[in-house]
Amino acid sequence: MGKVRVGILGATGPVGQRFVQMLANHPWFEIAVLAGSERSAGKAYGEVVHWILDTPIPPEVKDMVVAAGTPDALQGRCEMVFSALPSGAARELEPQFAAAGFPVFSNASALRMEPDVPLVIPEVNPEHLALIRVQQERRGWKGFVVTNPNCSTIHLVCALKPLHDAFGLEQVFVTTLQAVSGAGYPGVASLDIVDNLIPYIPGEEEKIEREPLKLLGTLVHQHVEPARFAISAAVHRVPVVDGHTEAVVVKLRTRASLEEVAHTLRTFQGVPQRLGLPTAPQPAIILREEPDRPQPRLDRNAGNGMATTVGRLRPDPVLDYKFVLLGHNTVRGAAGASLLNAELALTLGYLDEFVDTASLEAFQPHPATTL
Ligand SMILES: NC(=O)c1ccc[n+]([C@@H]2O[C@H](COP(=O)([O-])OP(=O)(O)OC[C@H]3O[C@@H](n4cnc5c(N)ncnc54)[C@H](OP(=O)(O)O)[C@@H]3O)[C@@H](O)[C@H]2O)c1
Repeated sequence: MGKVRVGILGATGPVGQRFVQMLANHPWFEIAVLAGSERSAGKAYGEVVHWILDTPIPPEVKDMVVAAGTPDALQGRCEMVFSALPSGAARELEPQFAAAGFPVFSNASALRMEPDVPLVIPEVNPEHLALIRVQQERRGWKGFVVTNPNCSTIHLVCALKPLHDAFGLEQVFVTTLQAVSGAGYPGVASLDIVDNLIPYIPGEEEKIEREPLKLLGTLVHQHVEPARFAISAAVHRVPVVDGHTEAVVVKLRTRASLEEVAHTLRTFQGVPQRLGLPTAPQPAIILREEPDRPQPRLDRNAGNGMATTVGRLRPDPVLDYKFVLLGHNTVRGAAGASLLNAELALTLGYLDEFVDTASLEAFQPHPATTL
């Protein structure tokens, strides 16, 4: 085995397409199966997908026949799966895949807040992958489910992590300006969004107010003790294709100068950067000094779409500091997040039962105890 064979559930949607694009030349993983709903199963991928990315469909997957999205249809064809399923289908299917012995790396919100399901950003809480063992034991699953957060949460928490570690967070206010690709395809009707802004995305504020507390929480014995700070989120859909912008105001627990805050963001190094994981951006956070950055069109592809760009860092007259951040919502906010989780899990040995790592090319294991 030169590479780990992977399946993609929900391969035809915008996030599924990002998986296909990002896995096309991956050094450790290769696409073995593409799965869809009954609508696409049995047909060629190139025929059923409405491809919306700006690189061509990789030739090796164009004629691949789409499989039914069930464990039976994928058994023996791949060692693990990435999930880009809508939440309802994920809630039903992901546990079936895990029970059938597949490691599942999921984008869906369905299982994120379950106490025994790791919700992970490798730069933020890599140690939470240890919940995999708790999950397998409690549920009797041979496989497991690892999730990544919502597309706005992920960039917000990447920027909050170094501040929380260095100074402690007391209060966070975040106002998001979210791209239309975050709503899937066909998503928001053009007549609703062109020349307009919609100050409501169902369920989004709740996710942004809940998920960061689990991500920045502490693993105690067999569960995560949530971080204790207050977050208030206000979300908006805006006529931008890709790239979520977020205006953030923070109150810190200890005093810090503007230069200390800037230095902390600028020099942040996470575990994926230290391990040199293939999809890890170097650096994870880009701090810009210009008064008019970041901007979606100019900054969403920073770090191959995997970095979080922070700018307009300045004191706030009500709380302590405010800044604007921006990140790609279907790359780092979705497919790239799952992919980095899978690279971390493989590197730390969580896939040893499923994959013969000795036969993988260009792969360097690190025991989880090195974290
Ligand atoms: N878009 C983003 O920026 C973003 C960011 C973070 C997380 N997410 C999450 O990632 C997931 C995927 O997002 P998306 O925007 O790509 O979704 P989407 O446009 O709704 O795509 C859905 C995909 O799932 C398949 N599918 C639908 N129902 C199914 C079923 N019952 N059984 C098997 N397959 C089924 C569809 O297959 P067919 O085409 O064959 O019907 C399609 O491939 C969602 O959970 C979303 O909330 C999205």
